[in-house]
Amino acid sequence: MALLKLKPSFKDYIWGGRRLVEEYNKEYDGEILAESWELSCHPDGPSYITNGPDAGLTLQQYIDKYGKEVLGRNCRRFQEFPILIKFIDAKDNLSIQVHPDNRYALEHEGQYGKTEVWYVMDCKEGAFLYYGFAKEVDKEEFARRIKDNTLTEVLNAVPVKKGDVLFIEAGTIHAIGKDIVIAEIQQNSNVTYRVYDYGRVGKDGKPRDLHVEKALDVTNRTPMPKGQNCSPHIADCDYFTVDKLNLDGKTVQRVEGSVDGSSFASLLILEGEGRIRNGNTELSFRKGDSLFLTADSGEFEVSGVCQALMTTIGKKENMIRLGIDIGGTAVKMGLVNDKNELIAQTSIPTKSERTAQEVIEDIGKAGLRLLSDNDLTIDACAGVGVGCPGTVDSKNGVVVYSNNLGWKDVELAKELKKYLPLPTEIRNDATVAALGEAVAGAAKGAKDVVMITLGTGLGGGIIIDGKVYEGGLAGGGELGHTVIAAGGEQCTCGRKGCLEAYASATALIRDARRALESHPESLMMEMCGQDPANMNGKIPFDAAKLGDETALAVVDQYIEYLGIGVANFINIFRPEQFIIGGGISKQGTYLTDALKKVVGPMCFGGETSALPEIKTALLDNSAGMIGAANLI
Ligand code: BGC
Repeated sequence: MALLKLKPSFKDYIWGGRRLVEEYNKEYDGEILAESWELSCHPDGPSYITNGPDAGLTLQQYIDKYGKEVLGRNCRRFQEFPILIKFIDAKDNLSIQVHPDNRYALEHEGQYGKTEVWYVMDCKEGAFLYYGFAKEVDKEEFARRIKDNTLTEVLNAVPVKKGDVLFIEAGTIHAIGKDIVIAEIQQNSNVTYRVYDYGRVGKDGKPRDLHVEKALDVTNRTPMPKGQNCSPHIADCDYFTVDKLNLDGKTVQRVEGSVDGSSFASLLILEGEGRIRNGNTELSFRKGDSLFLTADSGEFEVSGVCQALMTTIGKKENMIRLGIDIGGTAVKMGLVNDKNELIAQTSIPTKSERTAQEVIEDIGKAGLRLLSDNDLTIDACAGVGVGCPGTVDSKNGVVVYSNNLGWKDVELAKELKKYLPLPTEIRNDATVAALGEAVAGAAKGAKDVVMITLGTGLGGGIIIDGKVYEGGLAGGGELGHTVIAAGGEQCTCGRKGCLEAYASATALIRDARRALESHPESLMMEMCGQDPANMNGKIPFDAAKLGDETALAVVDQYIEYLGIGVANFINIFRPEQFIIGGGISKQGTYLTDALKKVVGPMCFGGETSALPEIKTALLDNSAGMIGAANLI
């Protein structure tokens, strides 16, 4: 874990000055310097590392190299690096502008919106800025005043002095006035809707674009409440928490702190100079510098005479996660809270005969609907977890191959993000169901668990030492595709004799239909309404429970096959718990009691050896959704 000194990217917008070069030590060759992007992973202006073995990398390259963990747990809910920190030198007035919120920006710009905070580092006597409306205006008046250049008459002009803080929530109309130097901490976005530019022209001699329609859509037209109190912080919102370090040299000359695994810490030096120490790294700093401590950097010590802003990312309470369980016939989606409760759910038909893109579009749109139907914005959602049948390359978010969906090399995570731009994780469906049962269901508390799902296919999920085991390469854990009868029944995977071809619900239905060919008198025929096409995985059990001989034979045979597979897996893994899920698991103890009888003697060491508990899943249809949500 590291202490990094960063070098900014520069912006020469027309209203900028020279103060960042002359007073804030920026090494810049150009004429005008309006902004320096001091902590940035934004492609429009990255920050660069200047010290240590990674000097020369951009901060984003550093994160890619060491993984998102360097940002801390609280950043997992952000798809991208969450913030952007700048110095701004306004020699002239900035345009009057507004930023959209996440919901609007994601829909219209494919970027996050922007909430920001300004810290006034310096200003001339009489400097002021615009901050919201002075009085309530309706949309028509707002539009008219933009047109006839009288907008500033109804804006709230705020005189400022060094050290003032203004919190600008998305939707607040604002403009930095001339002769002000500001430190700005904002969401990582570059979306601005300009409504008035004082009739100026850009570098190309043409008036700069205005974005009036969009601004009319997003602007909050009620006057701002006076002042916010974020004590003890100077700003604290869903996106950032900002504190001020004041080493005045008289009462305080040294500050100690610690950076844990929850968030990185950024230090922006406003005034003075000093030294910072973290582990074996010690750096000097001066006014205008930007320092970055990765999450889990541990204890640090700042000494000197200086003022700095320290920015971290806080935990957001009550975030929900969207769990998606893609099946051959239906896609189930649920909103899962911190306590692993499913607070809302929906389901859409998969219709997998369509292209993967069409299926994913439906899933994305249904996910957005589920959020909005529950009055939740996309930023209330920490991320999207998906369980999908088949071989999943979880690192790249790709479904490599799905026998059940007919998919090959489908970029599921990337496609889904077009509709749900959130952190997205995908895994095999049965793996995800096992995770669900382990965190909130039948296997809660157990560290070593094997689960199989008996549905259209036969899925396998393995948990070793509390962690989902996928194998070193994509495609591990396919327990259904292990052969129990050489040259046996044809499996959907192309091989013959797989456990799936004998013990999935599909196999049971096939065997029950076959039995009806020679025993049409069986009760199962009546239960199918005299048409074997109506056979399902429940009928053989229902008829067997009523003593129907044919059904009993089908079910016994089915349990024998299933038992072979279960005993094989016990011999390999000896888990503490063996969980049976999927539609057939609804048979509960009727199934597990019979299964235990056949499995015990087949296990290595026999019935007296240490045998896992064999039980049916508790979460029923929800295991996939809850497990998927727990990928986030
Ligand atoms: C697939 C697995 C899947 C299982 C359950 C099998 O046919 O090959 O990947 O986990 O069905 O859906």
